[in-house]
Amino acid sequence: MGRIPQHFIDELIARADIVEVIGARVQLKKSGREFKACCPFHNEKTPSFWVSPDKQFYHCFGCGKHGTVLGFLMDHDHMAFPEAVEELATRLGLEVPHEGGADAGPRRADEPLYELMARVAKFYAEALAREPRARDYAARRGLTAATVERFGIGYAPNSWNEVLKRFGGGEAERKRLAEAGLVIERERGQVSGGERYYDRFRDRLMFPIRDARGRVIAFGGRVIDAGEPKYLNSPETVLFHKGRELYALYETRRARTNLTRLVIVEGYMDAVRLHQSGIDYAVATLGTATTAEHLRRIFRVVPAVVFAFDGDRAGRAAAWRALQQALPEAREGRELRFLFLPQGHDPDTLVAEEGREAFEARLADAVPLSEYLVSELSEQSELKSADGRARFAENARPLFTKVPAGVYRELLLERLAEVVGLPPARLEELWHGRAAPAAGPAPAPPPPARVAIGAGRGSLVRQAIVRLLHYPAIAAEVSPAERAGLDASEEPGVALLRELLDNLKATPAQIPAQVIVRWEGREEVESLKKLLDREEVISDAPAAAGELRAALVRLADQAARRRLEALEAKERAGDLSSSEREEFQRLISRLSRREAGGG
Ligand code: UTP
Ligand code: MN
Repeated sequence: MGRIPQHFIDELIARADIVEVIGARVQLKKSGREFKACCPFHNEKTPSFWVSPDKQFYHCFGCGKHGTVLGFLMDHDHMAFPEAVEELATRLGLEVPHEGGADAGPRRADEPLYELMARVAKFYAEALAREPRARDYAARRGLTAATVERFGIGYAPNSWNEVLKRFGGGEAERKRLAEAGLVIERERGQVSGGERYYDRFRDRLMFPIRDARGRVIAFGGRVIDAGEPKYLNSPETVLFHKGRELYALYETRRARTNLTRLVIVEGYMDAVRLHQSGIDYAVATLGTATTAEHLRRIFRVVPAVVFAFDGDRAGRAAAWRALQQALPEAREGRELRFLFLPQGHDPDTLVAEEGREAFEARLADAVPLSEYLVSELSEQSELKSADGRARFAENARPLFTKVPAGVYRELLLERLAEVVGLPPARLEELWHGRAAPAAGPAPAPPPPARVAIGAGRGSLVRQAIVRLLHYPAIAAEVSPAERAGLDASEEPGVALLRELLDNLKATPAQIPAQVIVRWEGREEVESLKKLLDREEVISDAPAAAGELRAALVRLADQAARRRLEALEAKERAGDLSSSEREEFQRLISRLSRREAGGG
């Protein structure tokens, strides 16, 4: 895939207007120099979402979401980075250049790929109208014409090359079809005489899978009546990543503007039938277990989900897997519940049998995650005995640790402690005791989740980074000597500061968002965004430059002092090499100069 050159992203950020882009999606109100709105990423009644035209940055004080215009598009419209770039460029009438030559990457050609998918989906839809067997099958499954239309359901003809013939005019077109997962390339040996490609989907009812913007990115095809495999899905392609996409999410968002919860089901038919029955907030995972990525996307859209699982063994197993994925996403303000259907039913058959109200009553009764966790673990241990309760505690521990710290975690701890029959603090002690057996070596501390920048608010590294972020152009004013002074520093976060400085010196940036976007996709980006959010009192660029350079000098001094101490110790021990002695002298004169001059 061709890389999008940095200068283009810089230009994009500089030319794009974040207020205009966000304003097209969220009702913004001017407030002083900034704009505010009710946050699109969480439910709220009073606005805590701010957009700053100066910083070209947005921030929600309610949920903490923040970022650049590209980040907003990625989060709000669920786009991948290149998609967001493409979207913004299109708006501005710019063409996205790609490094590494014209055919290095399929990116530039992605638009045609979407078009191809759309044309093929249309062809399938028309084929359904022409094929009585498929139409009958859809009718037998209870699908109305309106539903077929709404979901764009179609039919792939019973042919090895229908799609190939219609859409694969030349070799380039056939390659595109293969790239889109619509045709399959034969192994070399099998080609002799015949075609190299053949249609992937044959004689199947076709469910188009759409992305957040409604573009067809893949298909799921069900055999008519019986056969193996029952469902055939598109492979992973540049457009389609199974673990990310949710079937019917687009249709759900289109049906409802005031979404408050989602039901997650396992099958295409389940989602479609629920919608048809008026439960138009159902989405399906695509033949995979629910992933953490799914959940993150879902919680960007709604604060509450109910997982619906079949009541059989497979359904229970799937529910337990979903629970494990869900634990890291559990927190206050989010609701995660589990619904188990009666044996022999799936949402499709159940809603057909008992209708919307009864199904919604079941949804209302769904079990909260914490209760499901407790009941499942209780089944595995005999709670009446002390041994059983100990086993419960042991089994709960690895699950509990997946829950992020916060109010929800505390409540869960209380609940688990109640079952075990211990005060919450004792239960935690017990768990910690296990983690560090007295005799063994202490376990390594877990790696910090975020890159810590500086020790505290006032740390020098932090001061420097904040100034660089707000006024990236001041990097040019840092002298080579000032920059070199950082090399000896070992302060937390100094590596990021060095990288930031080097980056900005090599490729100057004018506004904060240009800097943030260069770190997008890296762990440090969150810390950078947080630092940018802070309303630091920095009057203007010249002041920022002065403060930055002062911080750099002080960091260098710090490092020098530390080095001096080490050398002094060696000196006392009498084993200073000649080069170390020189260094020693240099450091002393540097520091005394500094102390005499600047205080
Ligand atoms: P199910 O076997 O529960 O099918 O698979 P279903 O959804 O009830 O299908 P109908 O009602 O018989 O039409 C659930 C989901 O698992 C995936 C599909 O996404 C399906 O909707 N699946 C299942 C596959 O990907 N391939 C298969 O062969 C079977
Ligand atoms: Mn089914």
